[in-house]
Amino acid sequence: MQRQYVHVGARTIAYFDSAPHDRSLRVLVLIHAFPLGAAMWEGQVKALPPGWRLIAPDLRGFGGSTIAEPDEAPTMDDYASDVIDLLHELELPAPVVGGLSMGGYVTLALLRRMTPRAVVFAATRASADSPEGRANRRGMLVLVDREGPSGVARDMMPRLLGATTREEQPEVEPLVRRLIKQQTPAAIRGAVLRMMERPASFDVVAALAVPAIIVVGEEDELTPVDDSRRMAEASPGARLVVVPRAGHLVNLEQPDAFNAAIRGFLGQL
Ligand code: MLT
Repeated sequence: MQRQYVHVGARTIAYFDSAPHDRSLRVLVLIHAFPLGAAMWEGQVKALPPGWRLIAPDLRGFGGSTIAEPDEAPTMDDYASDVIDLLHELELPAPVVGGLSMGGYVTLALLRRMTPRAVVFAATRASADSPEGRANRRGMLVLVDREGPSGVARDMMPRLLGATTREEQPEVEPLVRRLIKQQTPAAIRGAVLRMMERPASFDVVAALAVPAIIVVGEEDELTPVDDSRRMAEASPGARLVVVPRAGHLVNLEQPDAFNAAIRGFLGQL
């Protein structure tokens, strides 16, 4: 996939595009997790059935996207606005939209403002942070200020990858570490602040009137299977797929199973 750029006002929004400028294709937009960038979706080009194009934006500050300053009261809506700006610039009125974990939180914010063709929720949740979760976020802010992205990678790694991946696929950890170390402390800080302020969104999930798939790794510790089950219960039309032998970063840990689920879903639209 090639990294592309659009300029909106003073901002640059970077995105990966599997088929730049091909207007004849249907579009899947995938939004990345925290604290990775859009490059985490590289392996999902293989998930596309014929006739589809993948677009993966870098959220502000991540990858090649600039950070917006001043960032005084950051919310998930900022990220959603950036994705909407990108869709306008690329003239993509109703793509399939989805994301993993934080990318799912952004998708939920987007759903308050637009109706996509269909939705992909991966390893995410519709609940807000608990008080304990917010306290952990404050700890993460201290960690990123003190040790930067490497410290964040070290702290999160045991929860980002499932036990099976850590035991049987030792090559995945350095890949994830590299994706995290490419990010800036400012981008990570902005994402933490946005995640801790996000609202619960079960109302959005319950109001979904388009096809949806919910994919989660069986060994996910960050957003356990129960979080996905609760989303599926709130939206009875949604299809729930639990991927065996995968933790939180299900698309990187079990790409074949993840891609098969997405390909099957897109193929039926
Ligand atoms: C993510 O993977 O995007 C984050 O771990 C989600 C979170 O911390 O809530």
